[in-house]
Amino acid sequence: MNRRQFIALSGAAFGCSLAGGLGMAAVQRPKRAHLRLQIAGYRLRNGITPNLVSLSPDGPPPVLVAEQGKSAVFTVENGLDEYTSMHWHGIRLPNAMDGVPYLTQLPIAGGEVFEYQFTPPDAGTYWYHPHCMTMTQMARGLTGVLIVKETTDPGFDADQAINLRDFRLDKNDRLRTSFSPRKAARSGTLGNVITANWATNPVYDHPAGGLTRLRLVNTDTTRIYRLYLAGGASEIVAWDGHPVETGLPVPSQDTPLLLGPGQRVDIALVMPSAEGQVVTLNAMLAGQPRPMATLRAVGSNLARSLADLQPLAPNPVKRPVLSEAQTHEFVFGWSPDGTAPNNGFCGSLGSNFWSINRVAWSGDAASSTGPLATLDLGKSYIFRFRNESPNLHPIHLHGLTFIPLRSNKRKLARNWTDTALLLKDEVMDVALVADNPGDWAFHCHVIEHQKTGLAGVIRVT
Ligand code: C2O
Ligand code: CU
Ligand code: CU
Repeated sequence: MNRRQFIALSGAAFGCSLAGGLGMAAVQRPKRAHLRLQIAGYRLRNGITPNLVSLSPDGPPPVLVAEQGKSAVFTVENGLDEYTSMHWHGIRLPNAMDGVPYLTQLPIAGGEVFEYQFTPPDAGTYWYHPHCMTMTQMARGLTGVLIVKETTDPGFDADQAINLRDFRLDKNDRLRTSFSPRKAARSGTLGNVITANWATNPVYDHPAGGLTRLRLVNTDTTRIYRLYLAGGASEIVAWDGHPVETGLPVPSQDTPLLLGPGQRVDIALVMPSAEGQVVTLNAMLAGQPRPMATLRAVGSNLARSLADLQPLAPNPVKRPVLSEAQTHEFVFGWSPDGTAPNNGFCGSLGSNFWSINRVAWSGDAASSTGPLATLDLGKSYIFRFRNESPNLHPIHLHGLTFIPLRSNKRKLARNWTDTALLLKDEVMDVALVADNPGDWAFHCHVIEHQKTGLAGVIRVT
């Protein structure tokens, strides 16, 4: 099937479902947003950095908001002169809306529009990014936060999303090449300008003594952040979108929270009671705390406490039945040969260095790559993730949500996730119910690893 035929087919399918939907009075009008990819310029450091990619000419990608159980429509218009696609990280959605080129749709060419429509079943903190020309478009800025609001208001006084990411700039504030073969074969290329919402230590005002919901989202291509809050009482309330079931310790300078690319954490924070007092989000960098963002108390004291919060309502994720679960093992390691990935329209870094089960992903456009595992719809499975390398890998699965069970290296908190950070030589078992049919991308979220072989497909049928 060529590109044109594919678009014709999927266009027809959308036409039908839309017409059907509009014809029925009871159907809720979907929330719509039009997102136009375009070149942007922004002051990330001293001068304006040109040639960024965003959804406006002069600002970071916006925080998008959808509602749990309600239809959302995002029309993505490609205003660039290269291909793209958009992926909704962590959302359990129909496979055709997942935004993975060649697997679930064809790449969106310059000037084309693709309509993404889905009804998020789960509330929480998610994010969006391209899945075609991933390395360069993400490095140029196109990573944004997607909030799915709970059906019942959880009772915070304020909400603050913080999109953490690096840029790699030269001394004239121009973008530098974001990847190198040498780094791709190791832990990946780090940026040199570390930002929160595209700013260096931005200051946000929040009600004094109020309860703020901090949503920390690591949308970086490479960096694993080590985070903690200085000041204020706080509690982790959600992990990778889902309300925590196993409580997590409050991170500190000595035991910061490890947040890998793709991961999110929601923190309930009681702001200081006096106006002008601050809470700092710090990242440990080379053993030193670096302020990433500052929250400043304003107004009269609301005198809230963490005890005022009801636990967040659990999302409707099916619990795996472990006694019936079949195990699939996935080995993450070096690429066994010097193959080069297929480029297609979605970019390649030119070599493979990584593999899953000793097979390097042969590139986005390659139709020959079969699934790493085929799961029966509705059945429970255990995935054994085996890291055979000294590098850390945030392993991400699309379309499904899984729960960590055990590790050979540490005690794992049993909290739902879509992205598990595998430590050096770690073997981790996770469990899931294969309840969402389709071909789901499965890859490391260090993008240089993903694009040099550490990727594959899980089929649910
Ligand atoms: Cu966050 Cu395959 O992606
Ligand atoms: Cu994803
Ligand atoms: Cu990796």
